[in-house]
Amino acid sequence: MKLALGSDHAGFALKQKIKSMLETLDQDVLDIGTYSTESVDYPDYAARVARLIQTGQADRGILICGTGIGVAIAANKFPGIRAALCLTPYMVEMARRHNDANILTLGARLEPEIDDQTLRTMLRRWLETPFEGGRHQKRLNKIRRFETSLPAAAPDPVSETR
Ligand code: RB5
Repeated sequence: MKLALGSDHAGFALKQKIKSMLETLDQDVLDIGTYSTESVDYPDYAARVARLIQTGQADRGILICGTGIGVAIAANKFPGIRAALCLTPYMVEMARRHNDANILTLGARLEPEIDDQTLRTMLRRWLETPFEGGRHQKRLNKIRRFETSLPAAAPDPVSETR
């Protein structure tokens, strides 16, 4: 699997750690920066990873900022991107199983921080957990339609499906 990996300055150290963990797991990693702790803007890195996935140059991505929130918000503006902020291995597993997430976002400044063993488990689940499809695919199709046809004043989406 080709994995695009990106972070802002707040996520730089965690990105470096994740990069070496992924390399020990024999993954093909495309590190799109940032490459130091000098202050940068997280939307720029979220956009790079999102575009690599949109164009098929990467299969999945991992994005890191201070909280994981900013990169998730930015990446989810790109059609076809399903970025999931995960704090636990369970969240990673469900993001793959039910949501077919294609970008995992992580926070580097969390309190308490994610320990190395938990991080390794999260990465393994990110790489190995398949999407279940079925009823979950139907729900993702609904989300996909929001990208092109969400009305300005949306009617109640639940009654709309009856
Ligand atoms: C940078 O200070 C910080 O705002 C950023 O890393 C991120 O947490 C934004 O959501």
